[in-house]
Amino acid sequence: QEISGGCPMHAAASAGGCPVSQMAEAFDAFEGPYQIDPAEALRWSRDQLPVFYSPKLGYWVVSRYEDIKTVFRDGILFSPRNVLEKITPATPEAMEVLKGYGYAMNRTMVNEDEPAHMERRRALMDHFIPANLEQQQDMVRRLTREKMDAFINDGRVDLIDAMLYEVPLNVALHFLGVPEDEIAVLRNFSVAHSVNTWGKPTDDEQVAIAHDVGQFWEYAGKIIEKMKQEPEGTGWMHETIRKNAEMPDVVTDSYVHSMMMAIIVAAHETTSLASANMFKTLLSNREAWDDICADPSLIPNAVEECLRYAGSIVAWRRQTTAPARVGDVDLPEGAKLLIVQASGNQDERHFEDGDKFDIYRDNAVDHLTFGYGSHQCMGKNIGRMEMRIFLEEMTRRLPHLRLAEQEFTYLPNTSFRGPDHVWVEWDPALNPEREHP
Ligand code: HEM
Repeated sequence: QEISGGCPMHAAASAGGCPVSQMAEAFDAFEGPYQIDPAEALRWSRDQLPVFYSPKLGYWVVSRYEDIKTVFRDGILFSPRNVLEKITPATPEAMEVLKGYGYAMNRTMVNEDEPAHMERRRALMDHFIPANLEQQQDMVRRLTREKMDAFINDGRVDLIDAMLYEVPLNVALHFLGVPEDEIAVLRNFSVAHSVNTWGKPTDDEQVAIAHDVGQFWEYAGKIIEKMKQEPEGTGWMHETIRKNAEMPDVVTDSYVHSMMMAIIVAAHETTSLASANMFKTLLSNREAWDDICADPSLIPNAVEECLRYAGSIVAWRRQTTAPARVGDVDLPEGAKLLIVQASGNQDERHFEDGDKFDIYRDNAVDHLTFGYGSHQCMGKNIGRMEMRIFLEEMTRRLPHLRLAEQEFTYLPNTSFRGPDHVWVEWDPALNPEREHP
């Protein structure tokens, strides 16, 4: 029997009795089923209580495709202002540490309200035009080939360490025009930023993370100073710095500093994790892998299906600016929402057999992994292009690739998802290029 989500207090009111309320109460975004498979973990919610309050998280969870789209569509009623807020509030000690670094992360693009957001987005759009993408393409292919040359005769490699971490990072830094001299430190910083924003660090971890985040903030400031010395520099952040000088009210100082820190993660971690998920998914579905090896024209839709079935951003946030209704649930002003794209992406109501991976699916592109509406990801075509080129090169040069025996591990958090390692194996004697060098 369908249980209505009409009563916002449903979970609290009937605690102990109703099994669905118990599910809502037990929902934990940082461990257990949600960390193992967020879409599967919310199947009960999609079927029975598509909007529910999670007392553990203090958020309303939204799990159906149409409801998530409704929330994304209305950026005024459902403000993105909480998108980069620490989901686990900082301890007083961690706050002290952050203060010591002058940490002042504020509005970027993704968490900016209208009308400031659209004005800024328009002012900074030029770099994302298709012609610019063309230029990035050659670089992605060259970097991918170089990385593959280094391991193609080894027979076993962790794809993350060998390729999927660094190539998107290099592409991101190049696109942004950020100097590539401190790539090693950025890995620590990115993880700290993700845990700080979307994770549940213990009190002790909070302090260590606050130091990393503070240093990331300082580092971002130093990069800006360095880039200001090169007024002719190329790349999106150089453009941003010039616009900051031209129109400081639209592209503010605070925006430039906050964005410098956020975009390195937004442009890089998202793509690395999505690519890691893609290889894991395709190699676990051998027929699909064999099909794209035989017919590379299937790759673009396979990329979309991977983004739908196993995207790297599994949940995003919004906050109501007035009383609102989602599905049949009334929400008060100021309600915080966790909109779980991974769940919407497998919603039967929009995707037939939504929990099946199918590279021939004709509406795979409808997925919500890049968000939707006025804040939809500006870099989506860069991410897609990188994923497509990884597949083109890997299926051509290593069609006999297979997943090695391994246990996959993930960084526990609400939103960024992808395995820490993807170990793969193959027999180098069977590499096609040995037969046809
Ligand atoms: C925004 C996902 C790659 C730049 C977003 C949002 C998501 C997302 C979920 C928020 C959308 C919303 O609120 O509706 C992803 C995924 C990627 C990816 C899954 C890779 C597979 C990139 C890349 C760049 C980028 C490569 C830049 C080069 C941005 C920017 C925004 C954004 C600037 C803010 C847009 C706005 O608020 O107007 N992305 N992203 N992203 N992304 Fe991405």
